[in-house]
Amino acid sequence: MTETLNLDVTLVAESRIHQLDPNNIAFGTIFTDHMLVADCINGEWQTPKILPYGDISYNPALATLHYGQSIFEGMKAFKNDKDEVLMFRPLENFKRFNISAERMCMAQVPEEIFIGGLEELLRIDAAWVPKGEDNSLYLRPFMFASDVYLGVRPSQNYRFMIIMSPAGKYYSTPPKVKVETEFIRAAPGGVGYAKCAGNYAASLYPAKLAQEQGYTQLLWTDALEHKYFEESGTMNVMFVKDGKLVTPNTSTTILKGITRDTLIQLAKSMGIEVEERRVSVEEIIAGIQSGSVTEVFGAGTAVVVSPFAAIGFEGSDYVLPTITDESYSTRLKNALNDIRTGKVADTFGWVWNI
Ligand code: COI
Repeated sequence: MTETLNLDVTLVAESRIHQLDPNNIAFGTIFTDHMLVADCINGEWQTPKILPYGDISYNPALATLHYGQSIFEGMKAFKNDKDEVLMFRPLENFKRFNISAERMCMAQVPEEIFIGGLEELLRIDAAWVPKGEDNSLYLRPFMFASDVYLGVRPSQNYRFMIIMSPAGKYYSTPPKVKVETEFIRAAPGGVGYAKCAGNYAASLYPAKLAQEQGYTQLLWTDALEHKYFEESGTMNVMFVKDGKLVTPNTSTTILKGITRDTLIQLAKSMGIEVEERRVSVEEIIAGIQSGSVTEVFGAGTAVVVSPFAAIGFEGSDYVLPTITDESYSTRLKNALNDIRTGKVADTFGWVWNI
């Protein structure tokens, strides 16, 4: 528990929770009753406010609208059998948020605002944490430059906010992904490791082209040679080859995924050998053809573990074996879900009871 946060709280007169159907939640479409707003004015954090969820209005010269100093995190909260709310590894998201802030030349957010704000919002909107398989409350802390100024320089003012959105399954069917060999997600020395808005904006056009060809998402390759896998869509990517869990090692071009790290630790605890290293497209395509590569899946907060149906490369589709209960992706996903929903004891210290 983080030290008590000084907060101004204005509660809604009437909750909108009746709008939530836990059996049918479309990702990112419905938001809880409250949000947190904290302003950093000339380096001084002001008292954060919890307000009824709603629109915000801005001056057209708002710096973030023009130059994109904007970062975010994605995290999740769950309910256990006793209806207690559990957050999963929030300190990791807090640390990564400030790493992104540093790279984008933005203010550092204090722990009591980031973590304390999440805790307080979750206490107030606890009823919005849905139960049920694949359900969670998606937490979205974000920050943007709030100077009203058109010159290009780091903003002197920032707004940090947290909104929360009930979530179900991200993909309804296993994605078919295309190996991208023209466009890039990130280059060495760039901002690939930061969770900044521009990384997502830049990915939309190549993803749209792939979607027009019948693919769900992209498998990004390295910027220099297009030979090595980096990430997939908005997720880290993992392969099962010769019974080992293989994943690209993180670098300045790859986001240090918290789900990625969690799955690596879980796999090791299950006795699965893990390799973090460069993984070439050639190795994986040849492995699918020979049968040594049996699974390819995405790992991320929103998707959790998302096995791919097929990989498209140079005009051919390489179909992956059907996932079973014994597949690593199934076992890892179940192990992760059991821990974060409190079904099994958390021996890792990952679960944060609100
Ligand atoms: C997450 O998994 O939290 C992400 O970053 C994906 C999000 C952009 C939908």
